[in-house]
Amino acid sequence: MADRRYLLKLLLQSPLLAALPTSLLARPELAIPETVRQALDVFQLKRVAQQKLSLAAWHFIVNGADAGKTMAANRAVFDEWEIRVRRMVDVSSLDTFLELFGQQLTSPVILAPIGAQRSVHDEGELATARAAKKKKHVMICSMMTHYGYPEIASVGGQTWFQLYGSAFESQNRHMLEMAEAAGSPVVVLTVDAVGRGNREGERWFRRESTADQFGLGNYEGYKGKRGVGDSAMTWGFVEWLKKNTSMKVVLKGIVTKEDAKLSVKSGADGVIVSNHGGRQEESNRGTLDSLVEVMEGAGDDIPVLMDSGVRRGTDTYKALALGAKAVCIGRPYLWGLGAFGQEGVERVLKIEQDELKTIMRFAGATSLGQIRRGSLVRAD
Ligand SMILES: Cc1cc2nc3c(=O)[nH]c(=O)nc-3n(C[C@H](O)[C@H](O)[C@H](O)COP(=O)(O)O)c2cc1C
Repeated sequence: MADRRYLLKLLLQSPLLAALPTSLLARPELAIPETVRQALDVFQLKRVAQQKLSLAAWHFIVNGADAGKTMAANRAVFDEWEIRVRRMVDVSSLDTFLELFGQQLTSPVILAPIGAQRSVHDEGELATARAAKKKKHVMICSMMTHYGYPEIASVGGQTWFQLYGSAFESQNRHMLEMAEAAGSPVVVLTVDAVGRGNREGERWFRRESTADQFGLGNYEGYKGKRGVGDSAMTWGFVEWLKKNTSMKVVLKGIVTKEDAKLSVKSGADGVIVSNHGGRQEESNRGTLDSLVEVMEGAGDDIPVLMDSGVRRGTDTYKALALGAKAVCIGRPYLWGLGAFGQEGVERVLKIEQDELKTIMRFAGATSLGQIRRGSLVRAD
């Protein structure tokens, strides 16, 4: 012990150490928290998850399509906007309430639909649902979850169901009836599933994946033909949905103003600007840029939400300023789930909510309605 202390002392006195830039010695941005409460931002939870997860699970959650340029663009576009802050506003009390699709939400940060969550943590979607309920956030439940939607909804939080259209009508009907019976007020139709994105890391490690052992809970009791995504799906499917469900219909994956206009025309109740977190097409286009034109196309006719790349409260703030009513986060809560299970997801939601309130306070916005287009300026 004495030897170790002596060595340490020598090291600390060494001129070599003094020559090292301090940036190499103290790097909180590289810190790996040991407990969930130590995590200061979602990226720290990402590093814990990377340490804990198998290669197959890790590549399932982190990959983007092709070279990952769209996934990177999703992050980069947030830096192209700066926040114009206002001073001398009474910000001693803030609220983040909103009404969406007839629902009361306490936060504009929603959990995006993510399938197969038992790949990341054994309690999978149930842990996520418990965290969402505790922290009072809406959770959109993927059709491709390991636990079935009725079981996830029975946790008792606010949940919406996400549907992948199928070429088999019997499957579409089964999913809609099951979601309605379990009480979902909204069905989110994902429209970017005309094929499977080329996620090479995920494909490479798939042979080591154990995810298939769990089965997909939403197919329980369904005996018909299965098919996920329909490459022949067009706007008529949205009209069919409107006729065949009482749930609000929200289209996830709209990225252009033309499609925003067609969404309104087809009767959709809302859209989510999304490129699936850069996992499907390699377009090189971040969704914050897409949001601007989707707002042009949708006008004030239907609510517009956005996802892909949202990591910090300032990202949420910028999306809301550009017209989004709410944002969805995907990978960050998977990092929390992989790192510390339900508590990790709770931590992610707390961090997102705290960061949003922090920027609202500094920017002089006491409610979501005060976050407006004029709150931002495009960086030169
Ligand atoms: C591992 C993984 C699985 C996903 N599964 C689904 C899914 O089943 N249905 C769906 O509509 N989107 C799915 N998505 C996309 C998310 O809903 C969301 O659009 C995306 O994660 C947002 O980007 P972000 O991860 O950068 O926050 C998935 C994303 C990931 C990372």
